[in-house]
Amino acid sequence: MKVKTQYKCANCGNIQAKWMGKCTQCGEWDSFVAETVGGNSGSSIQIDNRRSKSTEVRAYPLSEIHQSQLYKIQLEDKELNRILGDGMVPGSAILLGGEPGIGKSTLLLQIAYSFKDAKILYVAGEESIFQIKHRAERLNLKGEQVLFLSENNLEDILSVIQTEEPAIVIVDSIQTVYSRGLENSPGSLTQIRECAATLIQITKPNNISLFLIGHITKDGNIAGPKVLEHIVDTVLYFEGEKENNIRLLRTFKNRFGNAQEIGIYEMVEKGLKVVDNPSGILVSSVHQKVPGVAISCIKEGSRSILIEVQALVSPTPYATPQRTSTGYDAKRLQMMLAILDKKCNIKTAQFDVFINLAGGLKTTDTSIDLAICAAIYSSYYDTPLPEESIFVGEVGLIGEIRKSMNIESRIKESQKLGFKNIYCHLEKNENSKTNNSVRNFGYLMDFLGSIN
Ligand code: TYD
Ligand code: MG
Repeated sequence: MKVKTQYKCANCGNIQAKWMGKCTQCGEWDSFVAETVGGNSGSSIQIDNRRSKSTEVRAYPLSEIHQSQLYKIQLEDKELNRILGDGMVPGSAILLGGEPGIGKSTLLLQIAYSFKDAKILYVAGEESIFQIKHRAERLNLKGEQVLFLSENNLEDILSVIQTEEPAIVIVDSIQTVYSRGLENSPGSLTQIRECAATLIQITKPNNISLFLIGHITKDGNIAGPKVLEHIVDTVLYFEGEKENNIRLLRTFKNRFGNAQEIGIYEMVEKGLKVVDNPSGILVSSVHQKVPGVAISCIKEGSRSILIEVQALVSPTPYATPQRTSTGYDAKRLQMMLAILDKKCNIKTAQFDVFINLAGGLKTTDTSIDLAICAAIYSSYYDTPLPEESIFVGEVGLIGEIRKSMNIESRIKESQKLGFKNIYCHLEKNENSKTNNSVRNFGYLMDFLGSIN
């Protein structure tokens, strides 16, 4: 095949024959990188796949596949265990993405040492062995089962995997790995994609679990996002604000479990600590008597979490008022303000509106709408909301409050943490099932009238 150069957008994968300043597909500026196709590129990574040579090629009916074949390794880290879908499938490839400095290396180092009787290979492409030793000492991690390899070259990494035969391989990070067989420069899209694919091709048939660390670009995508996301089994994102210690581990894709799970950690002096009671950390009882604060109960994966919504509504000095939202969709905030204006006579056209979810949490659960409206109302009239109350429900365009999914488990979680009033919407026939802490409302207007 003839060798030629093509240009690929690092953001969306759009391929062009000529370099372009702006991608016509995704609109990203300066994202095109040159890559070589044809010739010896792509196909020259030599794979010595031990299993595939000896196994006969055969297709099976499902009746010959036994459930026990999807054996899962139970991890000591309860959060990661739940996120992966009740354990880790041997041979699975997991991509862990996150901004630099968020704690990815810390998390995987802790995970590596939590396996007591499995051999782990930690490939350190970014940091020296001394830096890692320093971190392990700080975290007080000990054990002979974790082996470190300071190497960026794919062929050398593969040969160590084949001689050591570890149960788990951790690559920190995939962006630093390069193959001598490819002409593209290290860190290019082709290198990342081919190296990740080759690592998976070697580890998967040998039942070696693979963790790949990937840095995310400024807009929140793993560099070479589309190509890496679909070749791995699970994609996890590690998120959080630099200013506080709470870190969220979120599943973006999972072939072996629920794709909506989140795990909550706290970064302390001695590494990452699992937060056992997340509601406790995201809600402070002190704030409940202050105007502009409302508590909601959101559902993230299989879990109900209480979260504090803060709103600030203040007269604007500008011609166009500001709407700033952290953790809640900004377009949805515009919609809530329009509903409050039209249906409830809360006129915010002359006011700046700021919304913040505590702890740097982001949610797409629309059940938080009612708490957003309640917090705006409370700040607008400068009056605190009823104490020990939870607000749960999606708000529709005609001001109706919709019933939330899994409302029973949200009510249970709220009561477990001592909240007395749960403002939400239930169907008529469900009223009898619930106890006297439920405040049932069908419309935003009636709800706001009642807390007046
Ligand atoms: P790191 O795991 O190196 O991040 P990443 O691999 O995602 O780039 O973590 C970096 C930050 O975590 C660093 O700013 C220091 C902080 N940290 C702690 O607060 N406590 C600890 O015990 C450790 C090891 C790191
Ligand atoms: Mg790191």
